[in-house]
Amino acid sequence: MKTQVAIIGAGPAGLMLGHLLHNAGIDTIIVEIKSRQYIEERVRAGVLEQGTVNVMVDSGVGERLLREGLEHEYIDIRFNKKPHRLNVKELSRGRSVWVYAQHEIVKDLVAARLEYDEPLYFEARDVSIHGIDTDKPSIRVVHEDRQQIVDCDYIAGCDGFHGISRRVIPDSVLRIYDRQYPFAWLGVLAEAPPASQEIIYAYHERGFALQSMRGPDISRLYVQCPVADTVEDWPDDRFWTELHARLETEDGWQQQEGPIFQKGITGMRSFVCEPMQYGRLLLAGDAAHIVPPTGAKGLNMAIGDIQTMTRALRAYFEGGSKDYIHSYSDTSLKRVWQMQRFASMLCYNLHRFPEHNTFEHKMQIAELNNMTHSKEAMRALAQNYTGVPVELFYDLD
Ligand code: FAD
Ligand code: PHB
Repeated sequence: MKTQVAIIGAGPAGLMLGHLLHNAGIDTIIVEIKSRQYIEERVRAGVLEQGTVNVMVDSGVGERLLREGLEHEYIDIRFNKKPHRLNVKELSRGRSVWVYAQHEIVKDLVAARLEYDEPLYFEARDVSIHGIDTDKPSIRVVHEDRQQIVDCDYIAGCDGFHGISRRVIPDSVLRIYDRQYPFAWLGVLAEAPPASQEIIYAYHERGFALQSMRGPDISRLYVQCPVADTVEDWPDDRFWTELHARLETEDGWQQQEGPIFQKGITGMRSFVCEPMQYGRLLLAGDAAHIVPPTGAKGLNMAIGDIQTMTRALRAYFEGGSKDYIHSYSDTSLKRVWQMQRFASMLCYNLHRFPEHNTFEHKMQIAELNNMTHSKEAMRALAQNYTGVPVELFYDLD
């Protein structure tokens, strides 16, 4: 088989790349090791920056998002039992965030792709990458028990943190920057209306807590927990007790309880690999970087990479120029490190670290006070939270 771009992975990055390249008249094949049902039900992120919403809408797959997504103009940062509502839309001069689950984006993109009938192989096996340092790269894949060799011009590694793409870059070239955190998040979905319209980030002596939502009747709730914990350590009663204690405010505000129908634990890490392009391979999303989820950036960073990658591939296929291919890694990494900075700053200030003493606790409170009272700090927070435009990073040297 032959295609222009072979895309490995049908997460948000791979599917969005396939979609934007389809709109540009560029042929792609997407190969995915999991089933369609699995990727359409995988519960992950939920907060979209304005830029991500714009890409969905402008590329023709945003109709359901505009109908069912919830636009948020405020966030609430809580500590010392006090809420601090920040109008992020006003502070960022008109940019808001939207709550729309990642697996809904995946469904929208899969539906679009199946409708225009371009190849998308689910349950692919034995995917391998060849010849990225030649002009004739290819991938091999077993699909429906048939071995296929796909010759292409470029390979897009969109296969997430545990994928194979990053690993084919030679060790002598690849640099890894990594930090693991001494805590995790226990996340639940509950049939209970969120008590607040806003997403709430809470710092508490007992640990971090977060209230988000997936619609008017479903709450998405998280509490910080030890890394070694399993969901069995967290019966529903224990979860609710911790959540109430950490989100509590002086005015008696309380999150309503309801049946919990999904529970999972997510480890936390910061990770960047450099470069994000080697020969005919370009990496995007979690294949190249991971952020702690405190700033809700992971999915948005993946879509940012895809916008930059689409520009690079279009310049190559439409005009024969490799300039943007060669600058893809540097351009993307500037944005990636800025988002790493933001996510790790929020992660640091909102969690309880086992090794911290009371001095560090006081520093966190001072930082949170600054973040919620200084106009400059509030503006910087709102700008980063709602998403700095991708184009800004093209010029940031
Ligand atoms: P992925 O979504 O990981 O997609 C990669 C795809 O590649 C997968 O479908 C995988 O099956 C496939 N694949 C893997 N190996 C191969 C192979 N060899 N061949 C073919 N296909 C392959 N971010 C937030 O902002 N907020 C959150 O609350 C949040 N929660 C998260 C919870 C979990 C458990 C995880 C893992 C991530 C979470 N994230 C969150 C991060 C966010 O979901 C990711 O940043 C986002 O999924 C990145 O998209 P992606 O397309 O790069 O990678
Ligand atoms: C979510 O709704 O799942 C969510 C919200 C905010 C975050 C992370 C996840 O920072």
